[in-house]
Amino acid sequence: MEQFAIRGGRPLTGSVAISGAKNAALGILAAAVMADEDVIIHNVPDVDDVNILLETIADIGATVERLSRHDVRINGSTLNSCVVDNTFIRKMRGGYYLLGALLGKYHQAEVALPGGCTIGTRPIDQHLKGFELLGARTEIVNGMVVAKADELEGASIYFDTVTVGATINVMLSAVFSKGRTVLENVAKEPHVVDVASCLNSMGAKIKGAGTDLIRIDGVEKLHGTEYTVIPDQIEAGTFLTAAAVTRGDVTVTNVIPKHLDCITSKLRDIGCTIEEYDDAVRLYVKKPLKGTKIRTQPYPGFPTDMQPQMTVVLSTVNGTSTVNETIFENRLTYVDELNRMGTDISVEGNIAIVNGVPKLKGAQLSAPDLRAGAALVTAALAAEGDSVVDEIKYILRGYEDFAAKLRQLGGRIEMVSSETEARKFFMQVV
Ligand code: EPU
Repeated sequence: MEQFAIRGGRPLTGSVAISGAKNAALGILAAAVMADEDVIIHNVPDVDDVNILLETIADIGATVERLSRHDVRINGSTLNSCVVDNTFIRKMRGGYYLLGALLGKYHQAEVALPGGCTIGTRPIDQHLKGFELLGARTEIVNGMVVAKADELEGASIYFDTVTVGATINVMLSAVFSKGRTVLENVAKEPHVVDVASCLNSMGAKIKGAGTDLIRIDGVEKLHGTEYTVIPDQIEAGTFLTAAAVTRGDVTVTNVIPKHLDCITSKLRDIGCTIEEYDDAVRLYVKKPLKGTKIRTQPYPGFPTDMQPQMTVVLSTVNGTSTVNETIFENRLTYVDELNRMGTDISVEGNIAIVNGVPKLKGAQLSAPDLRAGAALVTAALAAEGDSVVDEIKYILRGYEDFAAKLRQLGGRIEMVSSETEARKFFMQVV
C-alpha cells in the first residue's frame, strides 16, 4: 500500500505549475463523446479519476487516444454501448456525467450509481428530476441508474439545491433536447462554465453559464473541436494553503487568479500577503497570522473542497476560528487525525472550532478522502518531526504529481510502499 513519508518543519518556497482542473475535465471528457468527430482536449490532468473515466469511455467503444500526457483525442462515432459499469467507475463520481451525455445523444443510458469521497450522503435526485423534466424515464435497478426517453424536449427546470453535478449533467442532455431549456438556481463554479464553453465550441447553444440561470437551445448535432481545460482552482488553493501553513513563499503559475479570489480573500483576512499576476498568484507570510470565520458556500463562496486545507492553516494561527461546513454533512472526520498532531479542534455538528496552537507534531495519519488527505499532507509538512500518511489512493485521484510538486518547493516528502522504505527515507533525508 502506498504511503507518503514526510519530514516536516521547512517552509515551502518557489513556484509550481498548476494542472488542468479535474472536475472540469470529467465533464468535458463526457461531453466529448457526444460528437461523432474528433474532439481534442488539452491540459487534461493525469490523475486517477480522469484516467478511470477515459478508460471507461474507451470501454463503451468511443475512440480514445492519448496524444501526449495531457492531450487526448476522443471520437464518439465508434461508441457501441450505453451501459457504463466497472469496478472503478462505481468508486468515483464523475462517471455520472456519461448519464447526461448518453441520454442526450442516444436517448438511453445505464450508468453505475456514483461513489466518490465519503463526505456525505450525496443523493442524485436533482439529476434525475432534470432528466425527467426533459422527458426521460429514470429508475435505479441493481445499482445502476437507468434513463430512457422516446424524445427529449426542452423544459424549465428549477434545482431545489445548488448542485455542480446536476447542473452539468442536465446541461449535457439538454444540448440535444428539442427547443429551449431553462435551468435555474444552477451552480456557477468555473468548471460548470468550462464544460459549457467546451460544448459551445462543439456547436451547442448555451448561454448564461456562470450566472444563476442557464439557457440552452437544443441542437441536432455537435461537431469536433479543440479545447483547453481551465487550471485547477482547488489544486492551486491547496498549494497556497501549504505555503501559508509552512509560513513559506510560493507562487502558483498557470492559474486564473479570479477563480482563486474566494480562497485568497480568506488567506488575506488571516494576514497572508497575496500578489496577483496575469496568470500567477504568490503567497507569503511576513507577520503573525490570525483566526477567522469560514463558511463553505457554492461558488463564488468559500469552496467546500478547500475546507480541510484551510482548517489546517487555521489550526496554527493566533486565536480561535470557526469553520462551518454547509455543503456536505460529513466532511469534518479528518479532525480526529489532525488532533493527533497536536491541534486543538472540536467539532459541534457541522462546525469546527479551531483554537490555534503554536506547533504541530508529526504523526502516523490516514487520508479519509481526497481533500482532507491533501490537507493532512500540508499539516505534516509544517509539523515538527516525521509523519506517514496512508490511504493516499484518495489523494492520487485528484492531484497530479503531488509529492514531486511539493518536493520542487523544498518539501521533504516521498511516496513509499512499505515501512522499511519509509524508515530508509527518514534515515537519508536531511
Ligand atoms: N445534492 C442533492 N441532490 C443532488 C445533487 C446534489 O441534494 O441531486 C446536494 C449534495 O448532497 C450536496 C450539494 O447538493 O449537499 C452539492 O453537491 P454537488 O452536486 O454540487 O456535488 P457533486 O457534483 O457531487 C462536485 C465535485 C466535488 C465538490 C462538489 C461541490 C465532481 C466530480 N465533484 O461534487 O468535488 O465537492 O461538487 O463543489 O465534480 C472533490 O473534488 O474533492 C470533490 C468532492
